[in-house]
Amino acid sequence: MKQKKSILDENLSRNDPRVKQILVKMKKENYRPDALIEILHTAQNSYGYLPMSVLAFITKELKVPPSRVFSTVTFYHFFSLKSKGEHTCLVCTGTACYVKGAERILSEIEKDFHLKPGMVTNDNKLGLSTARCIGACGLAPAMVVDDEVHAKVKPEDVKNMVLSKTGVRV
Ligand code: FES
Repeated sequence: MKQKKSILDENLSRNDPRVKQILVKMKKENYRPDALIEILHTAQNSYGYLPMSVLAFITKELKVPPSRVFSTVTFYHFFSLKSKGEHTCLVCTGTACYVKGAERILSEIEKDFHLKPGMVTNDNKLGLSTARCIGACGLAPAMVVDDEVHAKVKPEDVKNMVLSKTGVRV
């Protein structure tokens, strides 16, 4: 009999530090449905918003009805279901990344794309956000362009990383 693939296999990679961070949080909370808000916080902090694939994953792992997850996310204004911009660039500004130069990465993005965290380009092509820690401290400074995690990012490489992945024009 063919086994059903898990949501994690289909849409999320176990190697993604953000997924690992959510898994660690769920484990720490003993997969308690009561910890839903804290777990959603962890997910939003890691992704900058709450992608549907992540919500589906949390729903499944906590064994809570999708309606409960969705109503929680839509009730609290600090949760967001949408990324800003067609493409996203998330710079980790957690302690390890900060120490290793996250500010310089943000400065490069500001200079090259005229963006500050929370902003989106005029054509809505690229949105910039920050996270407190995406769970990849050993790779600091880390940056995520769309779904690709970049490790040990050098400020001088930022422009090309963003351009090659997003096709955004500057
Ligand atoms: S501080 Fe950036 S990944 Fe942890």
